[in-house]
Amino acid sequence: MSISISWIWRSPLGTIFKALVLSKLAIAGHYPLSVVNTDVAILGGGASGTYAAVRLREDYGKSDLLIEMEAVLGGHVNTYTDPETGEAFNYGVQSYIDYKGAKAFFERFGIPLQPNVLFSSNTLDVDPNTGKLVNVPVGPPLNSSVAALQRYYDVIVPWNDILLPGYWDFPPGEQIPADLLLPFSDFVTKYELEDMAPVLAVVSGQSISTTNPTLFVVKNFGTPVVEGFLNNTFFDPVPFNNSLLYGDAERLLGESVVLTSTVIEANRSDHGVRLVIENLQTGKRTLVFAKRLLVASQPSIENLAVLGLDKQETAVFSTWSYGTVYTAVLKTNLIPDNTSVAFVTPANSTSAQKPYSFGITWNGAPGYFWIIFGSEESFTEVEASEAIVAEMKVLYNGGAFPPIGSSTPSSEVVAISNHSSVTWGQSVAQLEAGFVQDLYALQGHKSTWYTGGLWCPDYSSNVWAFTDTVLPKLLDGID
Ligand SMILES: Cc1cc2nc3c(=O)[nH]c(=O)nc-3n(C[C@H](O)[C@H](O)[C@H](O)COP(=O)(O)OP(=O)(O)OC[C@H]3O[C@@H](n4cnc5c(N)ncnc54)[C@H](O)[C@@H]3O)c2cc1C
Ligand SMILES: *[C@@H]1O[C@H](CO)[C@@H](O)[C@H](O)[C@H]1NC(C)=O
Ligand SMILES: *[C@@H]1O[C@H](CO)[C@@H](O)[C@H](O)[C@H]1NC(C)=O
Ligand SMILES: *[C@@H]1O[C@H](CO)[C@@H](O)[C@H](O)[C@H]1NC(C)=O
Ligand SMILES: *[C@@H]1O[C@H](CO)[C@@H](O)[C@H](O)[C@H]1NC(C)=O
Ligand SMILES: *[C@@H]1O[C@H](CO)[C@@H](O)[C@H](O)[C@H]1NC(C)=O
Ligand SMILES: *[C@@H]1O[C@H](CO)[C@@H](O)[C@H](O)[C@H]1NC(C)=O
Ligand SMILES: *[C@@H]1O[C@H](CO)[C@@H](O)[C@H](O)[C@H]1NC(C)=O
Repeated sequence: MSISISWIWRSPLGTIFKALVLSKLAIAGHYPLSVVNTDVAILGGGASGTYAAVRLREDYGKSDLLIEMEAVLGGHVNTYTDPETGEAFNYGVQSYIDYKGAKAFFERFGIPLQPNVLFSSNTLDVDPNTGKLVNVPVGPPLNSSVAALQRYYDVIVPWNDILLPGYWDFPPGEQIPADLLLPFSDFVTKYELEDMAPVLAVVSGQSISTTNPTLFVVKNFGTPVVEGFLNNTFFDPVPFNNSLLYGDAERLLGESVVLTSTVIEANRSDHGVRLVIENLQTGKRTLVFAKRLLVASQPSIENLAVLGLDKQETAVFSTWSYGTVYTAVLKTNLIPDNTSVAFVTPANSTSAQKPYSFGITWNGAPGYFWIIFGSEESFTEVEASEAIVAEMKVLYNGGAFPPIGSSTPSSEVVAISNHSSVTWGQSVAQLEAGFVQDLYALQGHKSTWYTGGLWCPDYSSNVWAFTDTVLPKLLDGID
């Protein structure tokens, strides 16, 4: 409860104020709240929520309220400003796929575009336990990888209808193509796709030896991404600051955006939703009446508990897996520019596997490196930063990375951002039992609709295209 509101209640004018509030505004609990009536309340101002808010207002002429818990819009987009040069350094989302209306969304804001800003750096393989360079077997030549990728493309292209831009037409259990339920490693063997390993690892962070159902690989590493790679059509904004789009959207949406805020109470029915939202900094609460709720934040049980999930919703949302992911900016004098480091534990290593993994990628800014840190265990920001810096000490002690231009090694995590998320981890049996249909059956349930990376291929351009399919359904029957 904020101090100012308590003060109003205790002031001599309290009674008059209360009467005014009661006549003009609604009351939730014991607190006077300002009230907002809107067509659509949107929970989460990342890629999909921001896109939905812009389109609902600009293209459908509807009112909306975009509720985002962070201080900025953008979700997985992170941009660090180099304090010395003032240059933007993207350490979340990097590049966009030229899929459906993605370019038009940038053009709407007058943001110029350029071909993918690629920094092909030299990668050194290092044993994370000794900090010494290791020789890993030389991978396939690029032309072989491209050939394998083309074979993969030809196998997956018939599934576009059931996977793009989302899973509205995904077949029920017994009709799911058998290949999609094969362990991916078997699928790779079946279609002789081994040589696509380097591209799959770099573009989607996955291994050809994963035994996850092939569906989990193909649903993200689908034809739009493969086309982007084969035809080199990824693009970036100019200047290369991926936050620009979201800054512009925030200005356009004005008072329809509520930042550093989240839902703390909700009541949903087939007739609409009632939300109490709270500003996490000031404690100010607002009562929101909306005809529809669009959930554009991750649909985990923890995140959505506040909506008062019913049995049907809980059964579906409790099947996700969870992974810890951080992105970070590392400033170090141990790694030369235009060099990236991959940590590779040699096959004959006797050291225990570390409970995390990350790579260090040069990203065009002198002295700075981009890190994606992943683990199946929980790490706080501080723990993840400490693990990164500890690994840099191992790197220094290994002797192959002497400090550049100094006698003192220095490594600092100057920015870090939590991207942990629920992911698809359902079993083949759950998929065959109709998980995808159960998931989509929640669309529209209790006036609540969903978009975002768990509902479709998890790339910005894909969640935008999927949102395009949700909005007309969501608006159907709205008065
Ligand atoms: C490290 C990384 C790099 C990536 N790189 C690329 C790339 O180069 N190109 C690409 O196309 N895609 C990339 N992606 C994928 C892309 O970012 C996602 O597909 C996209 O962000 C998904 O959009 P979304 O709206 O579902 O989720 P998000 O963008 O994550 O947005 C969700 C938003 O909801 C907010 N939120 C969550 N819970 C609440 C709550 N309870 N109350 C209020 N707000 C809440 C969050 O703060 C967040 O802003 C990358 C992803 C990661 C993690
Ligand atoms: C990147 O864009 C965002 C949003 O417009 C802005 O706030 C930020 O200052 C920009 N960063 C740089 C380094 O220009
Ligand atoms: C970085 O190294 C790669 C590979 O050697 C080279 O092709 C590229 O031109 C270099 N880039 C820069 C910016 O130095
Ligand atoms: C790749 O290029 C090499 C050398 O030019 C050639 O011998 C080989 O056949 C090519 N491989 C493929 C799959 O095209
Ligand atoms: C790449 O572009 C060419 C020419 O536009 C097109 O014919 C081809 O289908 C594209 N390939 C893929 C995989 O998209
Ligand atoms: C939710 O709405 C229903 C129907 O209008 C009402 O009976 C119930 O009291 C409401 N619950 C809360 C917590 O507001
Ligand atoms: C592993 O093999 C490498 C190269 O063959 C060798 O240099 C190294 O000493 C071996 N390490 C262990 C722990 O056996
Ligand atoms: C990171 O984000 C996830 C998803 O929002 C959340 O569940 C988790 O608690 C966060 N971790 C930390 C350490 O804050």
